[in-house]
Amino acid sequence: MAKKEALGWMEWCRGWMHVIYEMLFQRILASHLENPLPLPPINDLTCIVTGSTSGIGRETARQLAEAGAHVVMAVRNTKAANELIQKWQNERDEGGLPLNIEVMELDLLSLDSVASFAEAWNARSGPLHILINNAGIFSIGEPQKFSNNGREEHMQVNHLAPALLSILLLPSLLRGSPGRIINVNSIMHHVGFVDPEDMNVTSGRRKYTSLVGYSGSKLAQVMFNSVLHKRLPAEAGIFVLCVSPGTVQTNVARDLPKIIQAAYHLIPYFNFSPQEGSRSSLFAATDPQILEYCEWLKADEWPACAFISQDCRPTNPSEEAHNIETQYKVWEKTLELIGLPSDAVERLIEGEEVQCRYGSQRD
Ligand SMILES: NC(=O)c1ccc[n+]([C@@H]2O[C@H](COP(=O)([O-])OP(=O)(O)OC[C@H]3O[C@@H](n4cnc5c(N)ncnc54)[C@H](OP(=O)(O)O)[C@@H]3O)[C@@H](O)[C@H]2O)c1
Repeated sequence: MAKKEALGWMEWCRGWMHVIYEMLFQRILASHLENPLPLPPINDLTCIVTGSTSGIGRETARQLAEAGAHVVMAVRNTKAANELIQKWQNERDEGGLPLNIEVMELDLLSLDSVASFAEAWNARSGPLHILINNAGIFSIGEPQKFSNNGREEHMQVNHLAPALLSILLLPSLLRGSPGRIINVNSIMHHVGFVDPEDMNVTSGRRKYTSLVGYSGSKLAQVMFNSVLHKRLPAEAGIFVLCVSPGTVQTNVARDLPKIIQAAYHLIPYFNFSPQEGSRSSLFAATDPQILEYCEWLKADEWPACAFISQDCRPTNPSEEAHNIETQYKVWEKTLELIGLPSDAVERLIEGEEVQCRYGSQRD
């Protein structure tokens, strides 16, 4: 069969219709949800939230901590995170218990930083119940940029680094079983395309734009996590989900020209607030029934992992995300790019050591 070079016209149009429909009607679609989302008691849970200094991640970390969870803010700006914790503590009622929240440094533009973070966390030998891969970038209109690891920045921050983090933290997630890996994805994956042989979009077969970089990275994340969902044995009790937060007014548009940023902030009716945008992550992290749904998808050999939409309802990711052949190619290529052997998941689940090309324990 000829190699697929791009999304077909019909798929591309359907993808854009999906995106526009959600952007225009998200508030109506989610009108049944309370804001903030009520959370069950979660005092016994430990959660890592990446990118929790801003936007959706900041709200997610705050609400999880206020509901009693032990929260780790995994961030590159540790000073900003510590200041936020101080602010949240100060805002609490007098006599209320202090928040159980801490900061650890993590820069997703460096795979060494990701591996070192996981080493430091796993060395505690404690359980991890919830990993929320929230941090992400959308460098709208910017030229193509590469990390020090030589990867296109959207692909690295939005897909490769979270993939490495998820796999390296499997031993801690096993200790916390049932555990959840939650990936903050985007409706934009519907218009994305991934060529596993050209994850950096440098071959010249496709023209790079920030939209191509962003949407492709989000599609790669759904595809990779669909394979992870299938490869994790049911007995491991680790559940993999992707969520769409909706269109949310955050710093994600920080790279837009000032005039477009102003227009963006003028449409609050259409945009969710960060608190509204955090509901799908919080729902995926705490809803008890979602685990049964994930189990059912696995038992039914459904080709994609669970995908929760901005209205906290399970939905289907894009048609392309269900392409099993590409999913497995994305899986293999991702493991190669993040410096892990192809059987890393199986070995970590068996309790074996796995060497990673990155971090302090590399060869
Ligand atoms: N806002 C939307 O409409 C929307 C829609 C769909 C999906 N999403 C997804 O939602 C997630 C959160 O985005 P947001 O809208 O809340 O954006 P945001 O306000 O820009 O927050 C992004 C967070 O990611 C962190 N981050 C960026 N690069 C990082 C790196 N190299 N290492 C570690 N952390 C890094 C940022 O840290 P710094 O503060 O240090 O930069 C920040 O805390 C992203 O995955 C995004 O793709 C957002």
